[in-house]
Amino acid sequence: PKGYSRQMSNAAIGFFDSGLGGLTVRQEVIHLLPNENTIYLADSAHAPYGEKTQAGILERSRINTEWLLGQGCKLIVIACNTATTNAIAVLRDEYAIPFVGIEPAIKPAALNSESKSVGVLATRGTLSSSLFASTSRMYSAGIEVLEQEGTGLVGLIESGQLSHPKTTAHLKALLAPMLQAGIDHLVLGCTHYPLLIPQLREILPEHVQIVDCSPAVALQTRAVLSRNKLLNSGGIPGVHSVFTNGNPEIANDMLERLGHGRDAQSFID
Ligand code: DGL
Repeated sequence: PKGYSRQMSNAAIGFFDSGLGGLTVRQEVIHLLPNENTIYLADSAHAPYGEKTQAGILERSRINTEWLLGQGCKLIVIACNTATTNAIAVLRDEYAIPFVGIEPAIKPAALNSESKSVGVLATRGTLSSSLFASTSRMYSAGIEVLEQEGTGLVGLIESGQLSHPKTTAHLKALLAPMLQAGIDHLVLGCTHYPLLIPQLREILPEHVQIVDCSPAVALQTRAVLSRNKLLNSGGIPGVHSVFTNGNPEIANDMLERLGHGRDAQSFID
């Protein structure tokens, strides 16, 4: 396996996503591990990944991995369900750096469902992956799983239209079949979708639980760092940087919305 020479515990945790969605994962990691340094790569110029072929998703995932290795990262969080479900196994074969990924959290939703009906909102790339199919099969015995492609949502968020009324209207139309079927859990299977929680809460009946597994990804990140003796023991607050090959103004608006400084940096790949 190539490209992993630095094992320093004070090196940064690298994150990549097709854009800004993975910031929701980074936020959980920073919250749990405040002394870790982080470098976030928003590959917004190539979003959405969900509409790409598996080969296309793998190609972008390799490029992002190489870029983060070039920054000297010690672990990579694939802050994207589409990249995880389509590429993590290959990346683990090809690179020695530890990877942590994110997949739709069907298991807790299925275990806790009383109506025995759960919804999964994810990209086409995630829903069509074999990893998703096997996870879904494993945990959904006796449960009706309603899958819905979140067509167009990533594009609306990446173009800065998160709060636009047309985004809420579109979301409402996407969720209608699930609500008709009586779901009591909605699994957010794309890291962009937790950004839509305020709109989702307006649309969903109160008893429908929203399931987002980014806190679990943060716990897994801590466990993998600890196992590899890579936890930062410096005891000082981490330094965080965000790089985007998309529009830095939109990235900065998102950072501000999430309570961070407007310090996104541009890069061209
Ligand atoms: N945030 C990515 C995910 O979790 C979005 C994929 C896309 O760009 O379509 O799946």
